[in-house]
Amino acid sequence: MLKAIVLAAGKGTRMKSRLPKVLQPLAGRPMLTYVLEAAEAVPVDETLVVIGHGADQVRQAIKAPVTWVEQSEQHGTGHAVAQTLGHLADEDVALILYGDVPLVRAETLRDLVRLVDEAHPLALLTVTLEDPTGYGRIVRDRHHQVVRIVEHKDATPEELAIREVNTGMMAVRGAQLKQWIERLDSNNAQGEYYLTDIVGFCVADGFEIHTATTDDPLETLGVNDRLQLAALERAFQRRQVERLMRDGVTVIDPARVDIRGVVTAGQDVTLDVGVILEGSVHLGDGVTVGAYSVLKNVVVESDSEIRPFTHAEGVRIGKNCQIGPYARLRPGTELAEQVRVGNFVEIKNAQVAAGSKINHLAYVGDATVGREVNIGAGVITCNYDGANKHRTVIGDNAFIGSDTQLVAPVEVGAGATIGAGSTITKDAPAGELTLSRAKQVTIKGWQRPRKDN
Ligand code: UD1
Ligand code: CA
Repeated sequence: MLKAIVLAAGKGTRMKSRLPKVLQPLAGRPMLTYVLEAAEAVPVDETLVVIGHGADQVRQAIKAPVTWVEQSEQHGTGHAVAQTLGHLADEDVALILYGDVPLVRAETLRDLVRLVDEAHPLALLTVTLEDPTGYGRIVRDRHHQVVRIVEHKDATPEELAIREVNTGMMAVRGAQLKQWIERLDSNNAQGEYYLTDIVGFCVADGFEIHTATTDDPLETLGVNDRLQLAALERAFQRRQVERLMRDGVTVIDPARVDIRGVVTAGQDVTLDVGVILEGSVHLGDGVTVGAYSVLKNVVVESDSEIRPFTHAEGVRIGKNCQIGPYARLRPGTELAEQVRVGNFVEIKNAQVAAGSKINHLAYVGDATVGREVNIGAGVITCNYDGANKHRTVIGDNAFIGSDTQLVAPVEVGAGATIGAGSTITKDAPAGELTLSRAKQVTIKGWQRPRKDN
């Protein structure tokens, strides 16, 4: 069986964080989830995750079918793998991954695993870097066989010129892994059991080491501090945005759009600067998203315009709508086609039918709004009585005058008109004018008070 061993017990001291390192978010999701998804996609038969520092937090945050293995004290990557040996049979192959190297791809891991058999119990994943500074170099003989890995600090000038480096990821047969792990010691600078030392044992035991490689360094980048996390985030964002552009999306500045989830888009979609797309977002043909808008779990159908500074979450927007600027659409909002929602309008858990307009400064919550309705400035659905939420129903072609309060539960009939400034507590009949308003009076000859001296 093929078993992934994901090392995720380290504290991540250099992050200086209360959050375990492997839970630090990359594009909005814990780094560890990317590694687990890659392993699952290989596919592996089982994933063993070694946790230690913040183990409870990690277990709670990650809802994946994995086997948790505790490493209560962290004495190095070799020590971490040692904790998993009880789960490994001799004929298993272990695929060793790092919880802080999130962007490795399943295809690459598949290539790596394929290299392992009885005659080749260890295979390494290597990468060739422009600047290999700091990495262990892969030393090969004239038959291109791996002879050893030399750490940067121990390398000769000739070896330092080697640009092929060890990623740390490897595939190993269970039988040999068990023997080699037993032979590890901690006689090194950090006093830790280094997993990477098993490479030397493999060569010493007379096995040829095969290597898989990737031409994409991003797959092998590890995160040890917040600078590296930010660098990986930017590189990953760049890649996602490039994919969207290739699929026909115009991105005004590829460095200023962030995707924290899965985005699908039709043709001729335009994203302005500062746009953040989270969760699952679909943008239909011709949709434009204005500057500094945040869309989370949103579907926008074709040719709708999201104007700047719009915030929408858990929302469906139909065709040819015009939203914002400064609109806030909260979960459960469903807008049919040609709806207009203007500035400083908040909508929550409401269905708005085709052609209706809510253009300024309104709150529409727990409401059903018919077609071609006009909701004036300052209209509020009073949906909450302090204990329960109630619905407001507004019929087709109704006109709700400015600054009206609709005290739910209440219904406004089709074609009804509500006079501005009304407080509507009872159903307003269809086709009629309803208003509740104190009569306007004028006090003749009234004098403004004057200041005493
Ligand atoms: C390690 C590798 C290095 C490789 C790099 C890949 C060793 C000695 N070095 O270095 O060859 O290029 O990863 O990024 O293996 N961990 C545990 N338990 C421990 C120690 C670490 O689970 O006792 C986990 C950490 O949580 C982390 C991973 O192992 O996810 C790597 O540990 P880290 O300390 O970051 O190793 P590096 O110095 O980066
Ligand atoms: Ca690391």
